[in-house]
Amino acid sequence: MTVRVAPSLLACDLGRVAEEVASVVAGGADLLHFDVMDGVFVPNLSFGPALCATVRRLTTLPLDVHLMVTNPDALIEPFAEAGANRLSVHVEAVTHLHRTVTRIREVGLAPGVALNPLTPPAALEECWPYVDFIVIMTVNPGFGGQRFIPEMLDKVRRLAALRSARRPAVELVVDGGVELENATELRSIGVDVLVAGTTVFRAADRRATMAALRGEVRV
Ligand code: DX5
Ligand code: ZN
Repeated sequence: MTVRVAPSLLACDLGRVAEEVASVVAGGADLLHFDVMDGVFVPNLSFGPALCATVRRLTTLPLDVHLMVTNPDALIEPFAEAGANRLSVHVEAVTHLHRTVTRIREVGLAPGVALNPLTPPAALEECWPYVDFIVIMTVNPGFGGQRFIPEMLDKVRRLAALRSARRPAVELVVDGGVELENATELRSIGVDVLVAGTTVFRAADRRATMAALRGEVRV
């Protein structure tokens, strides 16, 4: 199974969101990553269900919503109604994680959990049976355009080994600072989804860049 690329809309020109979405859809994006920030869990604000519903009308691609908020439970139904397909919550934010991921599945979305860079893989120990994917943050969440934290490569490797042992069907998603230089290694580790904001939206040729992230071509 080849790696999938999820452009992060945080890096697009929101004043031209319809054209930006059309451009990455036409360029071969596999899914769209949608970063939700509340200014509390992370020191930044982004967008919410209304923009998600707008994006839903622009494409049939899966919408992968990443909740960087202190109270994700309040946003499960709104994002389900807004047409999201996948919803991830941070283990650092949620007290009753079983309830939260169970609810996400009940409303018809694929549940995922996200880990901040220094949250150890052991924090997932009880999660494997309940989630469809793990989002491994390779930058501190809150902003696009940051540099990949090099030590995270080893963490991704350890999570890949744990995934094989615990539940191979769980997807590994890497988010933050993904670029052509680290994509090769991430693919070889067995990462399933590469989230890429700056790398895709700043590229002169978005199609070629997404193909290169998947390892199909060189640029
Ligand atoms: C960071 C977000 C990421 C971000 C990635 O808080 O969760 O999804 O948009 O952006 P790049 O690819 O520019 O690091
Ligand atoms: Zn994200």
